[in-house]
Amino acid sequence: MIFIVYICLGLIASIIAYGSYILILYPILRFSQMKQKYGNKIKVCFSIGAGILKFYNKDLQNKNDSIYFIRNMHEPNLKAIAFNFGTKVGLSFVDPELQKQILQNPHFYSKVDGPMAITFLFANSIAYATEKEWKRQRLFLGKSFHFEEIKNYFPLIIETCQKTLKKIDQKLIQKEKIDIQILKTCQEVTSEVSFKVFFGSTDETLTIIKRKDGSQTTISNELVQVLIDSYYLFQTDKLALLKWVLLKRKSTNFFLTHGEEQLLNRLKALRQACANIVAKRKEELTQDQSIAKKNFLDQYLIEMANNQNSGITYDEIIDNFSAIYLAGTDTTSNMAGAALYYLSLNQEIQQQAREEIIKVLSVKQKGRMAQQLFSQLAFEDLQNLNLINSILKESLRLMPPAIQSQTKFANHNLKIGEFDIKKGDLVTNHFSYNLSNPEVFPNPSVFNPHRWMAANHQEMVNFTPFSQGPRNCIGQHLAMIEGKCIIASILLQYEILPNPAEKVVKQMRIVYGFQHDNLVFFKKINS
Ligand code: HEM
Ligand SMILES: *[C@@H]1O[C@H](CO)[C@@H](O)[C@H](O)[C@H]1NC(C)=O
Ligand SMILES: *[C@@H]1O[C@H](CO)[C@@H](O)[C@H](O)[C@H]1NC(C)=O
Ligand SMILES: *[C@@H]1O[C@H](CO)[C@@H](O)[C@H](O)[C@H]1NC(C)=O
Repeated sequence: MIFIVYICLGLIASIIAYGSYILILYPILRFSQMKQKYGNKIKVCFSIGAGILKFYNKDLQNKNDSIYFIRNMHEPNLKAIAFNFGTKVGLSFVDPELQKQILQNPHFYSKVDGPMAITFLFANSIAYATEKEWKRQRLFLGKSFHFEEIKNYFPLIIETCQKTLKKIDQKLIQKEKIDIQILKTCQEVTSEVSFKVFFGSTDETLTIIKRKDGSQTTISNELVQVLIDSYYLFQTDKLALLKWVLLKRKSTNFFLTHGEEQLLNRLKALRQACANIVAKRKEELTQDQSIAKKNFLDQYLIEMANNQNSGITYDEIIDNFSAIYLAGTDTTSNMAGAALYYLSLNQEIQQQAREEIIKVLSVKQKGRMAQQLFSQLAFEDLQNLNLINSILKESLRLMPPAIQSQTKFANHNLKIGEFDIKKGDLVTNHFSYNLSNPEVFPNPSVFNPHRWMAANHQEMVNFTPFSQGPRNCIGQHLAMIEGKCIIASILLQYEILPNPAEKVVKQMRIVYGFQHDNLVFFKKINS
């Protein structure tokens, strides 16, 4: 009997010893080695288990900005942040020169598994695909994101902006000025654009999902919500967390917890709703191929019908939709929302931007109302919106929706500049570092779009909110076009005023952005 107790105690002691080793001792040893080797070229951000996430959370609570520590760690020699996450340690490079070396060789790294929703929705999509599969996908999708192709989506973007502003106009009939949820407003536009760029104009009833509890939601809302809930599950369901830590993407293959099962059911319903859209469109196109439009779904389906060996399946189409929708919606709305917030605080720049768009459209004016005037905006006019373009760039600099690249781990030992990376170590880049570096951008916390009208070479190479290299953002042109249309349409109709009552909190979630949303007032311009 005593013997068994000893064995149990021994076992527990070993587990504790092993746990302390991998979670505490190992990272500390590695960091002290690094510190010896690289001195003040690195800064260590260590916290047991949660790692760098703890730093985001601490600054969010104490400073109202998740990346306050990054904005304030600049030193002339600093090249990388050494950080831990779970049992792993790694380096995040802050200098775009070193970042480039990583981003040019994506095949040296593997992406770290995300929680259940990521695996279930787009583990095989372009965003997570491995080298060979990725190349094929990027080639196919790349064609559709080419600047010339995006032109085809321009009328859709204009129409969506108008539709969204009409709703605001109705509220402004009763009141002189109203507070506006700018992120939500911008998201209405970017969500609809992402959805329709992919699926074309779809019967709205097909996009509704019925939940088990009887409530209803749309595919696009559910996609975002289920992803957030999938991360949140780890906080409430420790068994699910433990399974995930041990088994990663295989963890949901067996013994589902109640929480996992609920998520899985929602994910299945979501995929089914997407599949219904695909099936219905397939039927329409089977009857008449000539109705095919320039959206992803139609292109996939035509390719499927005409090329028996295309290998495209419904599942692949849905994976690609989820990836593109998620990559393109909240990122773009946060960029445009941040721009509107900064314009509310900088009335002079706001007026200059308004004059710019009025000037571009003045040839077409002929006594039209502001609303109608916007409908005259042509794709070619966008290149003349220099200040509005600079406003968006400056907003991306101050509030980059992607503050870092997706964390990866090294497939084998390698060298980045003078830094040795061990097989299995984590590697990432914090774009946000040089974007707020006073040595690169003088007065980095000041919103000054004019710096982009005469940007020097160094400022240009450090502008990497869309990452760099072969796996940079495929949707960046689309994002900038959406952003310009949103800003231009709003400036033509409304004065944007600050809302001093609203708390300004900058939070890292899936994207980095403002936590509260009633950031500005809109006041109708009487023309
Ligand atoms: C302001 C808006 C946007 C920002 C700041 C942004 C940022 C980024 C960044 C930083 C990456 C690289 C991620 C990494 O290295 O881990 C990326 C990749 C990607 N983005 Fe965007 N993005 C935006 C808008 C869009 C839009 C509108 C779309 C499509 C509709 C899109 C689709 C993608 C896709 C598919 C990838 C993966 C590309 C690949 O792996 O080859 N993004 N984006
Ligand atoms: C954070 O925001 C709260 C509420 O607006 C404010 O009271 C507090 O002073 C802010 N903290 C910092 C460090 O700015
Ligand atoms: C980023 O900023 C540092 C200064 O802290 C500078 O040494 C480095 O050259 C910058 N990177 C680039 C590519 O300009
Ligand atoms: C995404 O789209 C490309 C192009 O059709 C296709 O090759 C790929 O298999 C698709 N699949 C997934 C899972 O993303």
